[in-house]
Amino acid sequence: MDHYPAGCALIRDEHRTLAALLHALRHLVRELRGGHTKADFTLLRAIVYYIDAYPERMHHPKEELHLFTALERRTHEADADIRVLRNEHENGARLIRDLGHQLLRYEHEGATGFAMFAAAVEAYASFYYQHMEREENHIIPLALRHLTPEDWGAIDAAFAENHDPLKGVDEKQFRDLFSRIVNLAPAPIGVGAASRTA
Ligand SMILES: [Fe+2]
Ligand SMILES: [Fe+2]
Repeated sequence: MDHYPAGCALIRDEHRTLAALLHALRHLVRELRGGHTKADFTLLRAIVYYIDAYPERMHHPKEELHLFTALERRTHEADADIRVLRNEHENGARLIRDLGHQLLRYEHEGATGFAMFAAAVEAYASFYYQHMEREENHIIPLALRHLTPEDWGAIDAAFAENHDPLKGVDEKQFRDLFSRIVNLAPAPIGVGAASRTA
């Protein structure tokens, strides 16, 4: 097709937001492991909450309802990947719950809980990077090849509707959280202090 559909750009935008959050989380874990900073549980909870609420409530349902179903209607070429991705959406929900649980343990048990929390962060981040790669490298190219302008019209509208996770019902809650993440996270993620030592 001769123009890049808005829905594609919006999906990639949402992936960039998620990747930034994962990057922030990994960065904080590295700082904590190196003993350069004291755990800021307000910030860690805000990031984990945001990651949990955003893919689960907004991103995955839109992908399944609009992009995957349209593609399944037009071709069987994507069936195997879509099966994997739908399973991963379910697994992702389990992994992020585990991450939240490990964060709680870390907060209550202190240093002894750190290793499990760090492992849960790594498990979720590497899982999710792979997931986004499969969507961007397999699904989007097939969608660009097989979907019609009418299909894209519906997808564009669905993704534009609440493309910005800071809009809609949870607008204030999400906006507060996001600015907290950006304000508290050290550079290069945010504008907070470079390190907060004990
Ligand atoms: Fe997905
Ligand atoms: Fe996605």
